[in-house]
Amino acid sequence: MTERGHIIFLGAPGVGKGTQAKLLSRRLGLPHVSTGDMLRASVLAGTEMGRRAKAVMDSGALVGDDIILGIVRERLAESDASSGVLFDGFPRTLAQAKDLDAMLAESPLGIRAVLHLVLADEEIVERLSGRRVCAQCGAIYHVRFQPPKQEGVCDRCGGALLQRDDDRPEVIRHRLEVYRRDTEPLIAYYADRPGYREISAEGDTETVSKRILEEVGEAHG
Ligand code: AP5
Repeated sequence: MTERGHIIFLGAPGVGKGTQAKLLSRRLGLPHVSTGDMLRASVLAGTEMGRRAKAVMDSGALVGDDIILGIVRERLAESDASSGVLFDGFPRTLAQAKDLDAMLAESPLGIRAVLHLVLADEEIVERLSGRRVCAQCGAIYHVRFQPPKQEGVCDRCGGALLQRDDDRPEVIRHRLEVYRRDTEPLIAYYADRPGYREISAEGDTETVSKRILEEVGEAHG
């Protein structure tokens, strides 16, 4: 696996992409670029794009490719992205993957790894239905698997822990259907590349993190 370039986390909603991307970001010193977090920040800021995106996100559907590609292009132009980023939740459609390749064809950095996290649907539903997220700093918790020290309060910043609007059971089901239809085709798109790895997301956070570090060649220490 090459040592420079962007890393893509691929996998179903709730498989643990955000949790693992945050850990790997600290380990490698590369920025964590989550299109979901960027969209939620626009919703909170009350921008026009945020208002339009909120309805789509709450339904479990995907936001339009043009909007997503616009925000990714802007993010990659920032100076901290010059050594590569960790993409979480992007690309999510074949059109996004092809456009990313086109964008990177003009850049010195390519795709270093595609880490495809895999987990059974019933465990995904359990992870999503118990997820709580800090409204202030975005830290991710789970009521059973990663509980905060004090219920409803973020360990890191003291912010309030909330349930995401799209973590309701009927929306979770729809998000999984959308994943199968629109995002799963990316597995075949990337599977032949040298940096593609399928990684089991079973087990606790630390176990999964170790598997990931082994695959990206950072398992020492
Ligand atoms: P986004 O925010 O990207 O959501 P997602 O892909 O559905 O992924 P999640 O954030 O739900 O899950 P995750 O895999 O990151 O899991 P997490 O680490 O939190 O997107 C939201 C919406 O934005 C989309 O539906 C769409 O509308 C829009 N959008 C975003 N990007 C887009 C794009 N590119 N194109 C179009 N639209 C886009 O973990 C889940 C839970 O499990 C947590 O509670 C965690 O504590 C727990 N957990 C994690 N790991 C473990 C473990 N090993 N053991 C036990 N529990 C664990």
